Amino acid sequence: MVIQGYPDPGEGLRLHLNENTGGCSPRVLEAIRNARPSDVSTYPQYREAVLATARHFDVNPDWVLLTNGLDEGILMAAVGHIAKPRIHDAETIIPLPAFDPYPNSTRAVGATAIRVPPDRDYAFPTQAVLDAITPRTRMIFLNTPNNPTGQLIPIPDLVRISEAATQGSIVLIDEAYIEFGGTTFLPQLSRFPNVLVGRTFSKAYGLAGMRVGVVIGQPQALDPVRSVTLPFNINGVALTAMHAALQDTEFLPRYAAQVHESRERLYAAFRRLGFEYWPSAANYVMVRVGETRPIIEALAARKIHVRDRSKDPTTPGCIRMTAGMIDHTNAAIEALEEVMARQTR
Ligand SMILES: Cc1ncc(COP(=O)(O)O)c(C=O)c1O
Repeated sequence: MVIQGYPDPGEGLRLHLNENTGGCSPRVLEAIRNARPSDVSTYPQYREAVLATARHFDVNPDWVLLTNGLDEGILMAAVGHIAKPRIHDAETIIPLPAFDPYPNSTRAVGATAIRVPPDRDYAFPTQAVLDAITPRTRMIFLNTPNNPTGQLIPIPDLVRISEAATQGSIVLIDEAYIEFGGTTFLPQLSRFPNVLVGRTFSKAYGLAGMRVGVVIGQPQALDPVRSVTLPFNINGVALTAMHAALQDTEFLPRYAAQVHESRERLYAAFRRLGFEYWPSAANYVMVRVGETRPIIEALAARKIHVRDRSKDPTTPGCIRMTAGMIDHTNAAIEALEEVMARQTR
């Protein structure tokens, strides 16, 4: 049977999709429980949610488009800027390693992906990205911190690329994990009519199951995306959840502190085990373990689910583990150390 979505790893600790391992704010659950019948029976109203989002990100409400997860925002950006104007020889630039929806959206709109390999230790290949820009470039996908490496793109490099891309190409800066480290590009946005910033409530706010993302940009960049986005793309309960999440201002700092400590514990464990890893600005860490399969299977047998990155030629021998609540991280480390002790016995 072919079922949509990602395969379900089964019961256990989900450290494979960069989700919030602490769940969501209790206020979100309360708000969902208090939903009124009309919240369910009528088409959603977006005004309040857009205003609240604009306030939260300190941007003009006209610059905000709520999407069904940032995934939808990525696809709609490609549709609005490449498919709708029917640009035939369009190229997108995708620095590697990359989040799958970038090449998938590129393919969906009939464009060609120009892939740019990373610099040493996954440093961002700024010069190579600049060199890859041509008159055919329609979209440049930049992800900071990068999924899966956790590496940031320095703001001056984002600025250089955005300046270089002014000739008809859109720069999509995907900040899905920026709440866990790094600096947002949002304060720079007023200087760049060709830049879109993508954010999500899935990770830091623990709303992955609700599907709420945001695409932010000046009208020149955002309106083509808005014009192809379906009018009722986010359901009313998800909007209620997002509102409640924004009101709980203590939730994010508390969770981010857990993530920071979890990352440190993962680094220490990887050092003890002699694994190469890359310090991360996000809520996950990529680590090179060598042959991934036996380790992933042994962890899964202990109900710890991690992400295999070894099939991507840019991340050979690597797995990616979510860094969430400290207790969860401790359990994952204990399982990993046990698995490795057995393997070397
Ligand atoms: C880099 C990156 N961008 C965007 C997303 C999409 O997030 P969502 O569609 O849940 O908002 C993810 C989710 O894993 C991601 O890793």
